[in-house]
Amino acid sequence: MIAGTDFSTLARKDVAHHFHPYTNARAIEKDAPLVIVEGDGVEVIDDSGKRYIEGMAGLWCASLGFSEKRLADAAKRQMDVLPYYHSFSGKAHNVVAELSERLAALAPTQALREGRIVYANSGSEANDTALKLVRYYHNAIGKPQKKKVIARVKGYHGVTLAAASMSGIPMMHQHFDLPIDGILRTLCPHPYQFANDGESAEQFATRCAEELETLILKEGPETIGGFIAEPVQGAGGVIVPPPTYWEKIQPILKKYEILLIADEVITGFGRTGNRFGSETYNIEPDMLTVAKMITSAYVPLSALYVSNKIFQACADASASVGVFGHGYTYSGHPLACAIALETLKIYEERKIVEHVRSVAPTLQNALKRYADHPLIGNTRGIGLIGAVELAEDKAARKPFDAKRGVGAYLVRRAQEHGLILRVMAGDIVAFSPPLVITELQIEELLRRFERALLETEQWLKS
Ligand SMILES: Cc1ncc(COP(=O)(O)O)c(C=O)c1O
Repeated sequence: MIAGTDFSTLARKDVAHHFHPYTNARAIEKDAPLVIVEGDGVEVIDDSGKRYIEGMAGLWCASLGFSEKRLADAAKRQMDVLPYYHSFSGKAHNVVAELSERLAALAPTQALREGRIVYANSGSEANDTALKLVRYYHNAIGKPQKKKVIARVKGYHGVTLAAASMSGIPMMHQHFDLPIDGILRTLCPHPYQFANDGESAEQFATRCAEELETLILKEGPETIGGFIAEPVQGAGGVIVPPPTYWEKIQPILKKYEILLIADEVITGFGRTGNRFGSETYNIEPDMLTVAKMITSAYVPLSALYVSNKIFQACADASASVGVFGHGYTYSGHPLACAIALETLKIYEERKIVEHVRSVAPTLQNALKRYADHPLIGNTRGIGLIGAVELAEDKAARKPFDAKRGVGAYLVRRAQEHGLILRVMAGDIVAFSPPLVITELQIEELLRRFERALLETEQWLKS
């Protein structure tokens, strides 16, 4: 262990034994991790007492901020009454029953409202389950060859073997011997990076749809069972689809009877200014995954909505096998369900979707202004999610050499000024604050970002 001399005691303890997720495991031995010890509204506080606006809501998830007492109280009540039970082999409990009814009522389409909900603990597991159900369903309806799943470049669906395979981010595959077989890759709907010169965003959307159909025909539609996509791509760089993208993609999937899986792990429960991204983009999924903001991230929980059509076929198959051979020890955990119910109640009482719509223009208008900045090639966003993409040469859409770490520098400067943001490959800096953030807090967040941007400009000149 090579801990540097300026590590705090907690940071030292941490790096001694913690194999960090999504971290350069060597770099962190030299650069102390930021150790957070407390949350307060949209802020978190480190072990020296310094406060930060959490501009990412953690990992796009702490929608109600970091100190919602009602969730702590709901947890305490549930722990006192029924801390654990399960739903295997003919059991259920009152909390999972109530949550299932509530979630079904909130679903964005009639097909999902009439369907069923499979529970898991993380977005990865929910997406993994979706892939398993693509297989189970097609076996059940007598189309056992229809199993391949199409996913997109820069898609992010999690880290299990299947979810990482469906993700289109190279570092998630390197050294892990991934992807697994049966995953196909199609275009990422990011005009700034992938549109040809002179091609409009809508023309590019048409090309995305055409390329999808070409891929389906080349592979054979009878071999393709599913298509998975985030309504707005998150970890791949906050990619907001160009106009008409979703309306052009969906008829192709329908034509070839390919199940559409909407990964709403980030967009579910208000991020885009509607309860679901599927509402924002008129998506009609056969399956839909949620996690993160379902509990404001206070405890792990994820859910997979399954349409009635899929459920009915799988139910018959399970009857013939004798059991549906799937489920986690913690599927529909009562603590998680209780916190989800309280979270959903708070969203309704505080009109969280309306709140997002009312404060979002403060963020989105600033992002539009930043598009003129000499260091910024592109900005984009919707609701309370957005990003700036840095460029060395704006006109040529040319990024900085990744080795220079320009985005990482900017994010470090922001952190110095008490703002946590996240940089993603391609020097893309993301914004995804807690949904409860106020206009004044967004303005303060932007001031801190602008200070960091100015310092990055000065650093590049020096
Ligand atoms: C769109 C999307 N899907 C799936 C996941 C994976 O969720 P988890 O980290 O809970 O496994 C994430 C995580 O950020 C995500 O952004």
